[in-house]
Amino acid sequence: MSRISCFVAGMLAVSIAGLAAAQVDCSPRAGGGYELQYARPLFVMERCVTCHGDAAALAPEVKALIAGRYPQDAAVGYRAGDLRGAISVRLAMP
Ligand code: HEC
Repeated sequence: MSRISCFVAGMLAVSIAGLAAAQVDCSPRAGGGYELQYARPLFVMERCVTCHGDAAALAPEVKALIAGRYPQDAAVGYRAGDLRGAISVRLAMP
């Protein structure tokens, strides 16, 4: 596989999966072939704030479930649009 084929395969996979605003790149691997790298930002969406929103505003049943299963949870206080991190995938290509 050439570098351009690796890149095209990555772009195709991203568009088939319906992923937007992605970074796709291919770099040669030491043992031959390429490494496909995919990355995209992870933003908080409206549906995320059900559990990650303002702690005081969480529904009592959600708060109770999270407190029972994740007593150390500190992942609250976010609003839709906040940048939470990135999703990054690396895949060996032939
Ligand atoms: C049904 C509740 C729920 C929803 C909805 C939810 N999460 Fe989470 N999320 C959790 C729980 C519980 C954890 C684990 C917290 C812990 O380990 O203390 C977690 C962990 C995380 C983590 C890793 C821990 C951290 O704070 O860095 C991230 C990042 C994250 N969620 C992002 C999201 C994003 C983005 C969405 C929306 C697309 C989302 N979550 C929707 C409950 C939820």
